[in-house]
Amino acid sequence: MKICVIGAGYVGLVAALSFAKYKNDVICVDKDVNKVNQLNKGIPTIYEEGLEPLLKKCLEKKYILFTNNIRTAISLSDVIMITVGTPTNPDWSVDISQVIDAANEISISIDKYKVIIIKSTVPVGTHETVKNIFINRGVNENNFDVVSNPEFLREGRALNDFLNGDRMVIGSNSKKAIRIINKIYGPFKTKIIYTNPPTAELIKYASNALLATKISFINEMANLCSKVDANIETLSYGLGLDKRISKEFLNAGIGYGGSCFPKDTKALVNIGEKYGCEFNIVRSTIKVNENQRLKPVEILLDHYNKIEGKTIAILGLTFKPGTDDIRDAPSLYIIDELLSMGAKIKCYDPTVSKEMETLFPNITYCNSIIETVKDSHCAIICTELDEFYKMDLKIIAENMKKPVLIDGRNIIRMKKAKKSGFSHYYSIGNGSF
Ligand code: UGA
Repeated sequence: MKICVIGAGYVGLVAALSFAKYKNDVICVDKDVNKVNQLNKGIPTIYEEGLEPLLKKCLEKKYILFTNNIRTAISLSDVIMITVGTPTNPDWSVDISQVIDAANEISISIDKYKVIIIKSTVPVGTHETVKNIFINRGVNENNFDVVSNPEFLREGRALNDFLNGDRMVIGSNSKKAIRIINKIYGPFKTKIIYTNPPTAELIKYASNALLATKISFINEMANLCSKVDANIETLSYGLGLDKRISKEFLNAGIGYGGSCFPKDTKALVNIGEKYGCEFNIVRSTIKVNENQRLKPVEILLDHYNKIEGKTIAILGLTFKPGTDDIRDAPSLYIIDELLSMGAKIKCYDPTVSKEMETLFPNITYCNSIIETVKDSHCAIICTELDEFYKMDLKIIAENMKKPVLIDGRNIIRMKKAKKSGFSHYYSIGNGSF
């Protein structure tokens, strides 16, 4: 099958390579010429396990090609997948301009029947908007079908989730389009749900909002645990054994970040408003998360009264392990707040990049955990990186000034922190001294 993927971002690149892996002819289009050149040389533009070898292999076998020539790519393909960004505006509405731009381009180049798949996360009704663009531009209705097919992959496990996800949702009323989609997804090991486009569009937002709500709920429970000497880890375990609740997404910490939950929760509230639906639960989820990501600052203020002049070591910057993505990471909010209070910041994250240095030019970027904690007053774990689980806490404590540890991801046991010589330790509902 000839497949054109528009947008070589996280989802686009992973989708394009997954189709290429199964020997489809894939053309992946992006406006960014540097990105296109880099990818054609076999250098990934994002960090994701398994991506580099797959990219190299698919290029070598000529199953994939990257280009910025969108029109040729469209006219050469049977299936066109839109995987462009849909950021949230300051008023929480969704900016679908890139989807509209892609649809306009597609409408120019449709010369025979093509299936247009909307993979980007889009508000309910976008399927109809795209269809209307084609009709208004005079495209013969027999020459296309628009299908809503949201993506559920997680960063850090993107390839595996794309190929072996829990489910695939196909929103379409066209048997012809479904036959073609079944062919391209045929080799993937995933359960397919067939539904109408609005349901498909909503499943994605509902899924992310519910997961985010689980996190905010467990974080509120953790905050209560801290006050009454209860233990959130045991509480989560006890909750998770109930199959109706499930153990997933019950890890308390400094809240969720990333490019999806923060944006999609706000978008769902905004979409609901348009239809007179309040979504009070999701509003609270957002509010709880905004407070939770600043929990370490609240703890520090209680501990020191005044933060000015203190050196704080930030361990981990990305919004979660296994990625180099810092979008909406809790660490950014913590650093910003501590800087505004006059703290000095040293930080460490092996995957983090120039983007961070542009955002915060006046903090110290270190190359190791020890260099980061050296002479710091307090260390805050913001991301549960593997190396933080394994670090030698005694050496860390010895290198700090009257060492305080705030474990924002509950990865260090209180007893171990005590034995290692920390003077104070705080977790998120998992004990403190
Ligand atoms: C999320 C969803 O999990 C995917 O299903 C979805 O496809 C994707 O958004 C998307 O919309 O594209 P992702 O943003 O990659 O995936 O990250 P998650 O693994 O879901 O984690 C999100 C945040 O929640 C992280 O900051 C993580 O630290 C936090 N989290 C997660 C918790 O604080 N506690 C938990 O128990 C789980």
